[in-house]
Amino acid sequence: MKKLIHLIAAARPNFMKIAPLYHALCKETWAKPEIVHTGQHYDANMSDTFFRDLELPPPHHHLGIGSGSHAEQTGKVMTAYERLLEATRPSLVVVVGDVNSTMACTLATVKIKYAEKATNQSEEPQPISSSLQRPLVAHLEAGLRSFDRTMPEEINRIVTDSLADILWTPSADGDENLAREGIAVDKIVRVGNIMIDSLEMMRPKIEATNMPKQYGFKDGSYGLVTLHRPSNVDDQGQLEAICAALKKISQRMSLIFPVHPRTRKQLEHFDFWHNLKQTPNLTLSEPLPYLQFMSLVFGSRLVITDSGGVQEETTYLGIPCLTLRANTERPITVSEGTNRLCSVTTLAQHVGEVTTITKNQRKKPLMWDGCTAERVVVSIRDILHLQVEFTPSGN
Ligand code: UD1
Repeated sequence: MKKLIHLIAAARPNFMKIAPLYHALCKETWAKPEIVHTGQHYDANMSDTFFRDLELPPPHHHLGIGSGSHAEQTGKVMTAYERLLEATRPSLVVVVGDVNSTMACTLATVKIKYAEKATNQSEEPQPISSSLQRPLVAHLEAGLRSFDRTMPEEINRIVTDSLADILWTPSADGDENLAREGIAVDKIVRVGNIMIDSLEMMRPKIEATNMPKQYGFKDGSYGLVTLHRPSNVDDQGQLEAICAALKKISQRMSLIFPVHPRTRKQLEHFDFWHNLKQTPNLTLSEPLPYLQFMSLVFGSRLVITDSGGVQEETTYLGIPCLTLRANTERPITVSEGTNRLCSVTTLAQHVGEVTTITKNQRKKPLMWDGCTAERVVVSIRDILHLQVEFTPSGN
């Protein structure tokens, strides 16, 4: 019987993380991958377009959770996902990244205890591990730490990693962080960076999209901006300072800024939207689909961001990245890549400096090679074969 594997999709950054794995698992005769969309992101341009661009089928299961406070969102996902677990009984649950749904699905999975006998609710009841009586949980993109517990994502990472049975890390710092937290080393498997798989899988289509031309930009002449972190957009003073810095930068370089829904809401709430939209040389757009956004990244002179994934993509592509944060859970993008952390007061000055970076200052981290999904599939084969020998988390 095929092994049912749930891939938890939830929010925009996660679709790029499950897509390569879904496609790789579809080729395996023993695997039955199913996509579970919690509905954390629900706007067409935050979700549907990504399924289309990444050539994914519509989600096999949609929990329809939507927005809410952290506790509401987490609680709703747990309740809905627990029901789905009982009904479908997967052998393995793969959670990715660090959003609320990642933590919520992990919690629901490690706490469930299947009844001994499969009920007829399930079309295809799955054999379960005799010792656990629940599916195994694997975390893809495990071990990243910003060491900043004011970030909701950091809490999600710590909780998820402390509970998951298998931890797939993207880089050596991830392994070290987990070991320091007392996670058993046999649970940690370095697989590399899955986002790069999506990028390479879609490269021909990204290159064919040619978005810079559509905006009238010459390649390598403009800056791309993405900002959505609560620390940047929820505080009025910080957001006002960011708007002022972007206006200043736009006097020397065209900027394109696809605006995340949270950011748009805050810009309107603080009454900055209208003024920013009228700034010459600064284009505000709706959030963009994957291919269009990546096409803009490919052609950019530099990127200004607070996203995690964009720090990685720019490092891989050798494009200067200015991260408007005090810390990063992806330090390898600074030590080996093109990323620089900066504050809003130093942003404009950094823009001048990074445009002097040359190609030979750039390095691709190990295992960021487009083959991560393959390594994960090998690991899954091992895990499912050996699953009775794994002990529940807690070491
Ligand atoms: C979430 C993740 C963050 C990730 C980001 C990528 C958590 C804690 N945060 O933050 O790690 O980097 O996604 O985008 O999980 N909204 C819409 N339409 C949507 C989704 C959201 O309008 O499709 C609006 C709602 O007003 C919502 C707000 O955006 O309240 C924030 O959405 P939410 O999913 O809570 O957090 P993000 O800021 O997107």
